[in-house]
Amino acid sequence: MKIAVLPGDGIGTEIVEQAVRVLNALDLKLEMETALVGGAAYDAHGHPLPEATLKLAKEADAVLFGAVGDWKYDKLDRPLRPEQAILGLRKNLGLFANFRPAICYEQLVGASSLKPELVAGLDILIIRELTGDIYFGQPRGRRVSPDGHFPGAEEAFDTMRYTRPEIERIARVAFEAARKRNKRVTSVDKANVLETFQLWKDVVTEIGKEYPDVELDHMYVDNAAMQLVKAPKKFDVVVTGNMFGDILSDAAAMLTGSIGMLPSASLNSSNQGLYEPSHGSAPDIAGKGVANPLATILSAAMMLRFSLNQAAAADRIEAAVQKVLAQGLRTPDIHSEGTTKVGTREMGDAVLKALG
Ligand code: IPM
Ligand code: MG
Repeated sequence: MKIAVLPGDGIGTEIVEQAVRVLNALDLKLEMETALVGGAAYDAHGHPLPEATLKLAKEADAVLFGAVGDWKYDKLDRPLRPEQAILGLRKNLGLFANFRPAICYEQLVGASSLKPELVAGLDILIIRELTGDIYFGQPRGRRVSPDGHFPGAEEAFDTMRYTRPEIERIARVAFEAARKRNKRVTSVDKANVLETFQLWKDVVTEIGKEYPDVELDHMYVDNAAMQLVKAPKKFDVVVTGNMFGDILSDAAAMLTGSIGMLPSASLNSSNQGLYEPSHGSAPDIAGKGVANPLATILSAAMMLRFSLNQAAAADRIEAAVQKVLAQGLRTPDIHSEGTTKVGTREMGDAVLKALG
């Protein structure tokens, strides 16, 4: 089992280090190879996703990814910005299915910005399509506006588009996932305005007929945003396009009060996957040893479960994380009165110890 380890920028290196320590403690035959990605790769090789890094990722069974990005790269041309590394990996590896669970841990209910009764026990799964939509749709660019409100003015444009097979396969992923959970899928669209999402809605409805045991409902994205903060526990599996999924998954993450706790998985059709925390590179706290490594450690657990077929090892990691939370250990992002504040490495130590 080969893992490409891509720590990236900011807190990426610190948090991935802890996840690697945990993986090494499991007595599995894991081969891990590290490479530069994002701003770090740009600094060293002039490109955020160097050929060698992409090759390593393609050849591996799974990629363990930290985070990319720093304000200091904001002035670079778009193709050279750190974010292009993650978009390039998604595209080149065909990672179309993005799993973003939002789970509110019992011990962290107080950290949510919503009232405890709204989030206690929250366990929703956002499934975001990751290789289509306006993120990758062509044509895109800048030009002189040929028509519209201001002909002749400078204009920029992107294209929202989805093909039927792209919608079919992500819909199936969502229905299959729902079967293993509470058997409900909410498909989020904007069919009232957009052609792309009328097709989305039609196709998801058709695929839904193959899954009569799963309850399907449809929601416009604006309403979904509202329902997420009004009654989030009503959702089970949410399936949506790339752009809406980007936005809704951040909102869902924050409901749990602890974006530092949330893992994510991005899979292709052969179950090769990229695993990363749902949070970013947090340059403001990078190098200080205070970042929460739990989202990355939990991402490593997802990797063992989904891409490496090691469910027992994944269970061990998840149980260990529960245990350190029960012991009251907290990094600053989730710290509250009456709990023990620890740093990144100490949290890693505690998880290692809790693995038993
Ligand atoms: C995410 C991020 C990325 C996205 C950025 C960094 C390109 O926001 O993974 O949600 O927009 O997909
Ligand atoms: Mg995002």
